Amino acid sequence: MAKKVKTAAPRKAPAPKLPKVNAGELVSLLDYLRYAVSGFQEADLVFAHGTTDPVSEAAFLIGEALHLRPDQFETFITARVTAAEGKAILDLITARITTRKPAAYLVNKVYMRGLPFYVDERVIVPRSFIGELLETHFGGAEGDGTSLIDDPLAVDSVLDLCTGSGCLAILASRHFPNAVIDAVDISKDALAVAARNVADYNLSEQISLHRGDLFAPLSQRRYDLIISNPPYVDAEGMAGLPRECRAEPALAFDGGSDGLDIIHRILSQARDHLTAEGGLLCEVGRDRPQIEAAYPDLPLLWLDTEDSEGEVFWITARDLV
Ligand SMILES: C[S@@+](CC[C@H](N)C(=O)[O-])C[C@H]1O[C@@H](n2cnc3c(N)ncnc32)[C@H](O)[C@@H]1O
Repeated sequence: MAKKVKTAAPRKAPAPKLPKVNAGELVSLLDYLRYAVSGFQEADLVFAHGTTDPVSEAAFLIGEALHLRPDQFETFITARVTAAEGKAILDLITARITTRKPAAYLVNKVYMRGLPFYVDERVIVPRSFIGELLETHFGGAEGDGTSLIDDPLAVDSVLDLCTGSGCLAILASRHFPNAVIDAVDISKDALAVAARNVADYNLSEQISLHRGDLFAPLSQRRYDLIISNPPYVDAEGMAGLPRECRAEPALAFDGGSDGLDIIHRILSQARDHLTAEGGLLCEVGRDRPQIEAAYPDLPLLWLDTEDSEGEVFWITARDLV
């Protein structure tokens, strides 16, 4: 009879710990910032949820603990921190490292294009490149040829498909003040967060939230502009999501086996929901090569932002066939 071999249960890697701090060792905001950055780097955290590096992430969390806006942080960088404030900061830094949740979930806030939005784990943390593109490509009369819509004040209707926290609909309301805005999501949870943000910005008159599958809840309505940051991660990407992203709703990422399930549906239906002069602005992550291969005749205009190259396309209603 074969001998039973005892195998040790696989050990979980121990959660990274911050080095102990004695009273009085950390004094100023700058001291806490340096300490947090060292801890974040040691723990190999991923930064993709409102900040893109450990210094900005630490500054954001310390600012939140002290009720300071991001633009006030520098002013107080050499200021001393009280014992109670120091504890609040250390609690947040520790939670970021041990839970690996995005900082935005720990403080229920994220800044996008300088505006604060409420977020929690019912919704993806907003970080769409479309926020920047609304500023850079929809200003109208710049005369430098980069504007995609000539007169933002003449935009009467906007649709934000896959709205999540409602952040893009809210940013759109600032660029198209005369537009009636519809925002759709299939997730009841996400819409609850969007409703809170829309109410916080007093925009309930301008923005209507709809629950449903893409265009389904909108009947035959047509829009001057459709913006969308849909789920576009393929199966391989879903399997390799960093822990920070696994804290977010999978529904917000999952684009099917090749990532394009929702994008195909948006491209095939958008024309029926655009006015004659309208256009579609859609974020697709790294899926550009697959989309170009699937639609070789579609004249998609690929747009860049400060932190992305060709991850968002623009197409007019006339060119959508
Ligand atoms: C990548 S997130 C974008 C959220 C938000 N627009 C942003 O930029 O932060 C995609 C959103 O699409 C929603 N969604 C997924 N499938 C959908 C569908 N078939 N119809 C409508 N919304 C959908 C998800 O619930 C999620 O909120």
